[in-house]
Amino acid sequence: MVKKNACVFISGTGSNLKNLLKRARDYSFPIKIKLVICNNKKALGLKIAKKNSIRLHLVDTKSRNFEKKILKILRENNISIICLAGYMKILSKSFLKEFGKKVINIHPSLLPKFKGLNTFQRILKNREVMTGCTVHAVTENLDAGKIISKKSFYIKPKDNEISLKRKTQNLEYKVFPEAIIKIYRNI
Ligand code: GRF
Repeated sequence: MVKKNACVFISGTGSNLKNLLKRARDYSFPIKIKLVICNNKKALGLKIAKKNSIRLHLVDTKSRNFEKKILKILRENNISIICLAGYMKILSKSFLKEFGKKVINIHPSLLPKFKGLNTFQRILKNREVMTGCTVHAVTENLDAGKIISKKSFYIKPKDNEISLKRKTQNLEYKVFPEAIIKIYRNI
């Protein structure tokens, strides 16, 4: 199978990056992670990219034209899909239009519920019965594109922000790869 070149965008821990790298070792998984883009020089995920010898590019989102620079690198690396895995910056409409290919994001809630930040805190405050995670297509509107995959679990009375995060992330490691397989099965 000819794998598509993927770029993973991160800002933090990179546990989804680590999981996708593991999955991509499988010859039947549709993507190869060719590039990592990170906008935080202190991100733990940088170590994961280095350890796996993945080409890495640090961007300064405060610099002018940083999106143009990213687009150039994406083109040079023949990237077909961008996977946002904890990338804490909204991509502009013009970036998405110019890239013109697939961009997906993983969000730690059952979208369209709880878009944005502080998800677990808001889920608990709202006394939700269930939660989960969602992979969706990225548009210029925050956490609002078409839903590709979503999985849920029941919240227990003793759950807190820490346990919800752990449970949600464990589910993310299943849902993100599943969404990628689904995308390439449907084209
Ligand atoms: C994930 O929980 C994801 O849902 C959110 O950011 C987090 C990134 O975690 N968008 P990690 O850096 O992959 O560990």
